[in-house]
Amino acid sequence: MLRSTTPASAYAARRARIAALLDGGALVLYGGELRTRSNDTEFRFRPDSDFHYLTGLREPGAVLVLRAHAEPRFVLFVRPRDAEAEVWSGRRVGPEGARDRFGADAAYPLGELAERLPKLLDGARSVHMPLGRWRTLDQAVLRAIDGLRRRNRWGETPPELVRDARVTLGEDRMVKDEHALASLRAAIEISGHGHRAAMAALRPGVGEHQIEALLEYEFRRRGADGPAYGTIVGGGDNACILHYVDNDDVLRDGELMLVDAGAEVDLFAGDITRTSPIGGRFSAAQRDLYDIVLAANRTGIARAEVGSDIDTIHRACLRVLCEGLAGLGLLPEGVDAALEQELYKRYYPHRTSHWLGADVHDAGHYTLQRTPRPLQPGFVLTIEPGLYIPATDDRAPAGLRGVGIRIEDDVLVRDGGPEVLTASVPKDPAAIEALVGQSPLP
Ligand code: GLY
Ligand code: MN
Ligand code: MN
Repeated sequence: MLRSTTPASAYAARRARIAALLDGGALVLYGGELRTRSNDTEFRFRPDSDFHYLTGLREPGAVLVLRAHAEPRFVLFVRPRDAEAEVWSGRRVGPEGARDRFGADAAYPLGELAERLPKLLDGARSVHMPLGRWRTLDQAVLRAIDGLRRRNRWGETPPELVRDARVTLGEDRMVKDEHALASLRAAIEISGHGHRAAMAALRPGVGEHQIEALLEYEFRRRGADGPAYGTIVGGGDNACILHYVDNDDVLRDGELMLVDAGAEVDLFAGDITRTSPIGGRFSAAQRDLYDIVLAANRTGIARAEVGSDIDTIHRACLRVLCEGLAGLGLLPEGVDAALEQELYKRYYPHRTSHWLGADVHDAGHYTLQRTPRPLQPGFVLTIEPGLYIPATDDRAPAGLRGVGIRIEDDVLVRDGGPEVLTASVPKDPAAIEALVGQSPLP
């Protein structure tokens, strides 16, 4: 049974919040289509996050129209029931199911969209839609508006404003509601099981692919939809490749393994990175580097307070990382010059935080009027400093070459101070050492 913590009432409450933001307008969203994997086979369907956030419906080819200006308020267009097609590609909810199970006030077969959309948008002051995201949706909405415009002398009234629905939805998704938070906690809990299993099974000679398989087995068997993004398992120098997803090397004694993996539950993402010694003990040099990243991680978390912002967090982490690197002789130019001239990018090329939610890199503005956005209670973000010293780095001592370390936690901003949602996954080096190699690889 897949884990779902979201009752129908949660989706209804989200629609009510969004309707209140529409200012007499209408919202049109598309759930997305099946995508080809090769020839005539497809990837498993994953709905558009905004569409799912408001409906809970996971079917390709569905359109939502939410109307603030008239009844019916919540309209769904779905694929019609089709006994023969359902034998091949699975059950369909159909218009009746869209009403009965998903609470639509009205539901129609998708084929009726072009005919019905003009009437549904007639009199709406604005249309909120993800303009440019889906060509078919753009065409349907623009045609509907054009038809209304041409029939204005018969009294039909086209919307005069098209607004980006991703902003409307993004603002709501930034502050996690009770159910979003429950889904996130479930995703993070399952992600944590995967990480602890990966640490316990780690030993020299195991393949990166075996750790990947174990993580994803834990995710799936515990009821997650699967991984929320491409699982990264990098041993040694592979950890210095930020988006390393090949996972096809062997894990070697004396090196570190970086795992960046998260489960998806109810279409909410966990996003956790841990770095573990493959042979069970950090070397002194590895431990020096690890302690710097851990100090930066803790500094960043402490700054994830209401009113702070992710630039402030990034800068605080950068200072800790640069001071650490300078102490190891890796920034001969000095800390201030490294910060000013961004010389640290040689070892730390990415940012420290992103929003986390239904998308692993979640919706919502990062800046408001070019100013970093102050953190509010209910925001969830990652804190993920790292240091990556490629095997080819001629400045680093031998013991640090081919070492990549990242420590990534998911943090909820609260009035009482940050809550680390990923606290159950060890990051203290002694706790990691105690766990590595403790169970056989299944
Ligand atoms: N796993 C993607 C990220 O950490 O941003
Ligand atoms: Mn992340
Ligand atoms: Mn990550």
